Amino acid sequence: MNHFHVRDDELWCEEVPLRALAQECGTPLYVYSHATLQRHFAAFDGAFADVPHLTCYAVKANSNLALLGLLAGWGAGMDVVSGGELFRALRAGCDPKKIVYAGVGKTAREIAEALRAGILMFNVESLDELRQIDRVAGELGLRAPIALRVNPAIDPLTHKYIATGLKESKFGIEAEKVLETYREALTLGHVDVVGIHCHIGSQITQVGPFRAAVDKIAELVREVRALGADLRHVDIGGGLGINYNEEEPPEPGQLSAEILPVLREIGATVVTEPGRVIVGNAGALIARVIYRKYTSAKSFLIVDAGMNDLVRPSLYGSYHRIVPLAKTPGTRWQMDVVGPICESGDFLAKDRELPAVPPGECVAVLSAGAYGFAMSSNYNSRPRAAEVLVRGGSYAVIRAREGYEDLVRGEAAPAAGPLDFRAPAAR
Ligand code: LLP
Repeated sequence: MNHFHVRDDELWCEEVPLRALAQECGTPLYVYSHATLQRHFAAFDGAFADVPHLTCYAVKANSNLALLGLLAGWGAGMDVVSGGELFRALRAGCDPKKIVYAGVGKTAREIAEALRAGILMFNVESLDELRQIDRVAGELGLRAPIALRVNPAIDPLTHKYIATGLKESKFGIEAEKVLETYREALTLGHVDVVGIHCHIGSQITQVGPFRAAVDKIAELVREVRALGADLRHVDIGGGLGINYNEEEPPEPGQLSAEILPVLREIGATVVTEPGRVIVGNAGALIARVIYRKYTSAKSFLIVDAGMNDLVRPSLYGSYHRIVPLAKTPGTRWQMDVVGPICESGDFLAKDRELPAVPPGECVAVLSAGAYGFAMSSNYNSRPRAAEVLVRGGSYAVIRAREGYEDLVRGEAAPAAGPLDFRAPAAR
């Protein structure tokens, strides 16, 4: 359920007609619905209301400060995976005691930043990292709250690029090695063992893999507690899928009904890290048709958004619904919706049945709120799109459209004089 809907033969977001919005703000344009975001957060958070819990929104899905600020205001914690995401979470007003930090390559500098901020816990992904955290905490005279991220070797039945809990994944610590790693953690002088973590993948559309992971975690919690650790937080990660096309993912309530009985028995704060399910269907990418092109093999709708704006179709072969903003008369036929980027992989849809939307008119690429803008780039020197947030009948620009000057910021400009060549100071 989201707040993008057809009214008077046009697509609206809440009480705003998107054609007018595209006219006013230009394209490509990311549009988010405040009501949808709020509804999805409340639905997910509410599904765990019966137990002590903390919903840590996965910042990577969409890291716009304004959206983070709203989520923080509704009580969300945040799951971060870099110093930059930590910076954003704090800047958005998130309580550091609600921040969890995962990722296989946390640097000493990033660890220090998180320690100084006083986050809830590090989700530790290797023995090397554990020792590094202990060392950095020691240097700062602080204690580091940690959970170990377990790789439970469970197939989440999703795209292979976004399965993270398989035996061959780079993520987490093998289930067989977790106990000995906890044992070492308990001997370290600057580390407090406070939790356990796992995240098995993304766009998961069945409850089975979640249940299998939680069962595995429950077993480990008993064993880790037997070592004398005070495990207070059980972080089950994110990964709940959404409807892009024909998927029928479980509702948050169906997920919690399946796993809460096990989690209740563990008796710890349940931490979750939802990203896509909160923000995915709260956003659309609006693109304007530039040209139509018909070859003997194919028909193309060439639009002003490309793989630099939304890479999911190119990278994962992902399906995103595409609809014209205004009703377009005429027959529908199969077309590739492509961008202006000089790559054959630059497409938003392949062989999609659509009316021949005329140049100047716009289409909406739906379900683009998660991993859309967040994965965008300046490839082909394309300024990144603007982002707007619609609330009721009005909107706010929450990220200004980039301009050409943004493209060259920080680069050495020949016009400013000769390049500043120097030998490195340290040899
Ligand atoms: N927690 C951790 C440790 C994660 O690695 C992720 C996502 C999440 C939570 C949030 O997962 P979600 O609830 O959004 O499924 N770019 C890909 C998705 C990559 C997901 C990476 N990790 C895509 O566009 O489908």
